[in-house]
Amino acid sequence: TVSRALAQAIPKVSLHCHLLGSVPAATTVELARRAGVRIPGDPDAESVYDSAAYADLGQFLSVYDLVGASLISRDDVRRVTYESLTCFGSDHSVWYREIFVTPQPSPLPYPQFLSGVLDGMRDARSDTGIESRIVMAINREHSVAEAVEFVQQVIDHRVDEVIGIGLDYEEVNGPPAPFAPAYALARRGGLHRTAHSESGPPSAIEVILDELRCSRIDHGYHVVTDERITRRCVQERIPFTATPVSSDIGRYSGSGDGSHRRIREMVDAGLQVCIDSDDPPMFGTDPTNDFHAVGNALGYGLDTLTTFTRNAIDACWLDESDKQSLR
Ligand code: ADE
Ligand code: ZN
Repeated sequence: TVSRALAQAIPKVSLHCHLLGSVPAATTVELARRAGVRIPGDPDAESVYDSAAYADLGQFLSVYDLVGASLISRDDVRRVTYESLTCFGSDHSVWYREIFVTPQPSPLPYPQFLSGVLDGMRDARSDTGIESRIVMAINREHSVAEAVEFVQQVIDHRVDEVIGIGLDYEEVNGPPAPFAPAYALARRGGLHRTAHSESGPPSAIEVILDELRCSRIDHGYHVVTDERITRRCVQERIPFTATPVSSDIGRYSGSGDGSHRRIREMVDAGLQVCIDSDDPPMFGTDPTNDFHAVGNALGYGLDTLTTFTRNAIDACWLDESDKQSLR
């Protein structure tokens, strides 16, 4: 195991953190009030993210949507992007981050939301040196037609910083296969592809690989319940972006008994596991804490924890020449 200070110092590459899930509580309170968005319960800075109150992923996502609805100007988006990136860079030794961006709950038009994110990325980079890129996330609980339209919009407003797409929200309300047309469009548009798979079944992982043509899996703990699919993912070096703290709190590990045991099984099977924090302030965690938690729970030392970073460097979507600077 490693101390918190050492966990903090480990260089990190963040591949599984959502912008809307990364807004500090105090900022959410301020922006929600200003936007006239009512967050249920007692929405003061201390309790706005009461992770104990998320009975399930759906309840968590309804608060997450209210955070998005509170971003009503380009500068709001710039601010939350900046705050999250500078915190990752300065406080948690994150050198590079591929941010999941979910513009849908905000009333802002897509181009304005995008330019706010780009402004925040640029300011954070010049202040702390953190590099970042954008992964635009589809809401799988909405229609496939909307997903196709969304990907088309991403392509129409393409900038170099937007490097891929993801598939977010609840898998049970939006299994992967029907989204193949949106993913085919993204592939033709030169975008990288990933998808969340939290509840399973394991066959969903093969759908994500073969029909959505993804190169990574977000969560995917249930992979270890199928030996053949596990072997395949080991052979093909498919990266899995695990989020120990959020998955344990949310109990959406696909195993029903927390993600930590699954993460050990994944590592032991030889899968390429990366560690990240998903929606850090909303689950009372941060990148350091997730490294520390998984190290503590599974008895991993510096060697294994730095392997998680090396896996994330291999798994990230930078060009090989840019990746060299991270190795
Ligand atoms: N959006 C933010 N966090 C998420 C998660 N854990 N699963 C699906 N969608 C999300
Ligand atoms: Zn996630």
